[in-house]
Amino acid sequence: MMRSYSAPAKVILFGEHAVVFGEPAISAAIDLRSRVTVRDSAENLLNGMPLRRDSSPYAFHALELTESSPMEITVESAIPAGGGLGSSAAFSVSLVASLLGNGSPGRVAELAFNVELRSQGRASPIDTSTAVHGQGIFVSRETVANELWQISGPSGIWHIGDLRIGRMNIVIGYSGQGAATGPMVERVRKLCERFEVAREAISEIGSISLEAKRALERNDIVTLGSLMDRNQKLLSVVGVSTRRLEKLIQAVAPYSYGAKLTGAGGGGSIIALTDRPEKAAGAISLLGGVPYICRTGETGLRREEDEG
Ligand code: MEV
Repeated sequence: MMRSYSAPAKVILFGEHAVVFGEPAISAAIDLRSRVTVRDSAENLLNGMPLRRDSSPYAFHALELTESSPMEITVESAIPAGGGLGSSAAFSVSLVASLLGNGSPGRVAELAFNVELRSQGRASPIDTSTAVHGQGIFVSRETVANELWQISGPSGIWHIGDLRIGRMNIVIGYSGQGAATGPMVERVRKLCERFEVAREAISEIGSISLEAKRALERNDIVTLGSLMDRNQKLLSVVGVSTRRLEKLIQAVAPYSYGAKLTGAGGGGSIIALTDRPEKAAGAISLLGGVPYICRTGETGLRREEDEG
């Protein structure tokens, strides 16, 4: 048996971190993909190396949760790891889908979310659901229009809705510094426990996501850009921005409607909403960042090959 699936990277446009506390958030798939192939094997292998729980927790938990027999797993990915672009979600989703063979999108999203939960501690289903659905999604604790599926987690139920996001130019600036999501989520939790101002920032990020959803629905790029700038200020209040990310954001500002960090922060990437992608990319390169000129509207989980 050999099976192969691919899934896209994501950018969180609004609401990272706040979504873990139950606030709404918006995410879009972009045209960088990760592809996983599984083959029957005498032992569990990941890219030719014996698979161990401590070094490859995502693969380990995916195999366990799907009750799979031993597999040789091969990954080919264009998504930088630790870049805040959902590389682990794209991997978990493609792997779970390859192991299940015929899982429904909702089932794959739920299992891949549980892989992330077991591997990194607290998490929301935003990354994994974007990797499955592609396009755009709106995540909320409340019932949503165009609901795709619901995901239950330790802190309650999330409703995942399809959000029509047209083709937009997004330039990513990878800082070159990887950052693990789990410790950043934990850091925000501790800050919110201690400081009212951090709790207020989280709830204001939720209001921004709601405003941004309305702006997206009327294709109002200018408002979206200024909401991204506001979201960024609040992310720095909750301690996930860095000096390097701020510098990248300042560098792209003259060519952008708005810019912010995306994903967990602490390193990782910024995103700029722009109609001058080459200029924004040049500004990122000048600072030693790695630019990716991307488009939203990417397809979600996709079967690539199937044999035997
Ligand atoms: C990571 O891409 C997004 C966070 O909000 C964590 C999560 O939602 O699981 C920081």
